[in-house]
Order: sequence, then C-alpha cells, then structure tokens
Amino acid sequence: MRYVIIGAGAVGAGIGGRLYESGHDVVLVARGAHLAALRADGLRFSTPEGTRTLAVPAVGGPEELELGAQDVLVLAVKAQHTASALEPWPSQPVVGGDGTAGELLPLVCAQNGVANERAALRRFRRVYGVSVWMPATYLEPGTVAVPGAPFSGILNLGRYPQGTDPTVRAIAADLERSRFRAPVHEDVLRWKYGKLIGNLANAVGALAGPCEEGPARELVDRTMAEGAAVLTAAGIDFASIAEQLEVRGDLMRTVPLDGVQLGGNSSRQSLARATGSIETDYLNGEIVLIAREHGVPAPLNEALQRLAAGFARDRRAPGSLTAAELAALLAL
Ligand SMILES: NC(=O)c1ccc[n+]([C@@H]2O[C@H](COP(=O)([O-])OP(=O)(O)OC[C@H]3O[C@@H](n4cnc5c(N)ncnc54)[C@H](OP(=O)(O)O)[C@@H]3O)[C@@H](O)[C@H]2O)c1
Repeated sequence: MRYVIIGAGAVGAGIGGRLYESGHDVVLVARGAHLAALRADGLRFSTPEGTRTLAVPAVGGPEELELGAQDVLVLAVKAQHTASALEPWPSQPVVGGDGTAGELLPLVCAQNGVANERAALRRFRRVYGVSVWMPATYLEPGTVAVPGAPFSGILNLGRYPQGTDPTVRAIAADLERSRFRAPVHEDVLRWKYGKLIGNLANAVGALAGPCEEGPARELVDRTMAEGAAVLTAAGIDFASIAEQLEVRGDLMRTVPLDGVQLGGNSSRQSLARATGSIETDYLNGEIVLIAREHGVPAPLNEALQRLAAGFARDRRAPGSLTAAELAALLAL
C-alpha cells in the first residue's frame, strides 16, 4: 500500500515519517512554505532517537500523482480544513495502472473530533476513523517533532461508522511495524467520543497555558465533566478517561527532545502560529452542538468555543490569560 498523507503537518508528517522509515511507500501532501521546504530539503524529523532528514516525496495535490488501487488516503488536516482539503481528491473509482480495475480509494481520518468521518463519507465510500493519541509539533516549514516513547502514538482505528475489514487491519499492521500501537475496534466512534472529552482541555491549554494542575486543571475537569454529561444525555457511548489511560499505560510518554521546543496541544500550536483559525468549533463546539440538539446546557464549552474563536481571529498569543482570568471570563 502507498500512504498519501493529505495535510502533512505535525500528525500527518509524524505518521508519514514513521511509515516511511519502516519501509512503506509514503507521499506527503502539503502547501505553501511547508511544501517548498519538503520538496527542497526533505522532512526534518525529530524523535527521541534524534533528528534526521527523510527524503519522503512531497506534492501539492492529486494532479502530481498517478493514483491507483494501492493507495490509501490519510487525512490529517485540522477539522475546519477537512472539506476544502478533500475537495480535489477523487472519490470516484480510480482506474488501475493496467487500465482495468476501478477502485474506490479508502480514506483514513487521522484527526481529532467526530465530524470529519461523516463529512468524508459524503464523498468517499470507504472511510476509517482514528482516535489519535500522539504528541506532535510542527516546528517550522519542513520540520516536525514526534516526542512519544517508547511508541510514537496509539492510534485506535476502525471503519466508520462501525465495523472492521481487511483494509483497516492491513493499515493497522503497517502502523504496528512503524512504532505505533494500532488497536482495531468494531466501535471506533466510542474511542473517538472518548478522545473528544479529553480534547475539551485543548482550549484551556491554548488560552491559559499548562493545565496539569491548579486552577487551570479545575477548569479542565469541569469542562470535561460538562462534556461527559452532554454525551450521556444524548445517549452517546464513549470510552471513559480512566479506560483510555489504562489502554495507554506507559506506552507513550512525551519525552524532551534535545534542542526542540515542543508546542503543546494542536489548538495551542494554531494560536502560536497565528494561523487565524482554530479547531475548537469541532471540539468544545461539538459538545455545544450536541447539547443544543438535545436541549441540555453546556455553558462552559460554549464560552470556551467563543473565546478560542476570538483568540484565533485576533491572532492573540497562546497562554495570554491566567487561569484566574479565564475562570472569570467563563463566569465561574
Ligand atoms: N499535534 C498534535 O499533538 C495532535 C495530537 C493528536 C491529534 N491531533 C489532531 O490531528 C489533526 C491534525 O493536527 P496537527 O496538529 O497535525 O495540525 P497541523 O500541524 O496544522 O497540520 C495540518 C497540516 O495540514 C495542512 N493543510 C490544511 N489544509 C490543506 C490543504 N487544503 N492542502 C494541503 N495541506 C493542507 C496545514 O497547512 P497550513 O499550515 O498551511 O494550514 C498543515 O500543514 C487535528 O485534528 C488535531 O486535533 C493533533
């Protein structure tokens, strides 16, 4: 199989780099200065084993590739970019090199949130979800850091909306040979909703900095409890944080990398890069949407969604509020 990674940023280039190093065919799809750097110099890849350059091919879009039945598309853009990033990719059967077999390309969403797979299923018949546990930082054009050890990540996979098939098992086997743990689940959404609860902390970490302890931790706990109550009210099953931590065990610790400043969660990285957009509409905002559909309150997640959107729009630096200031803005 050849892995075509659409959106080769922190997670995309991290997965692509590991697959490439273990001998798989990989193509990175990128844009702008990142694409130019990847094309000119290859992928600078920092992991606990050190920093090296990988000569992974990089392209700007499908027009530069001859797609065929061997290809697996892996989508790794932030959720707000899913529709535009998928737009150029063929959801129609791709004619094989010999001009015969028409194959529908499988599409794997290696993303947070629960909206990407459904958006993809609108155009692609075979869609797979991944609950991505993987610390990764985009450092500068052409350079990413993947500090997880002993495994780079734990990627819980399954067919969307449910089930498994030979394709997902083959993808998982390739990932398992590439420094990932890749359990395959019948009910991948249960793991994705569980991860969504964990990702409700991203906005707090982006707005107010580290939230492992103290008042910021308290905010996170309340936000996650509100999210869990909303999912429960909506009758949505999800893996609890305790269950997720048990699966993770000591398999994936974030370790310091020599000379590398890690960027924190992916929403924080969006603010640091002043990209003008943030994924919160699909994280805290997903909880808000479900709460509205079911007539239950979600005031903390709603306020975090609104504040994070304002931070991104105004290009405010991450962590520019104290936890106490954030708590006051959340009316706590
Ligand atoms: N980083 C983490 O630690 C982490 C961990 C677990 C899960 N995740 C999830 O993984 C997903 C990806 O996050 P990330 O942190 O890897 O984001 P990222 O570093 O911003 O990478 C996304 C990449 O996609 C590119 N992109 C967007 N639209 C594109 C298009 N139309 N064509 C080509 N490239 C396009 C972006 O380019 P531009 O920079 O030009 O926009 C960026 O390089 C998110 O859902 C995130 O929540 C991240």
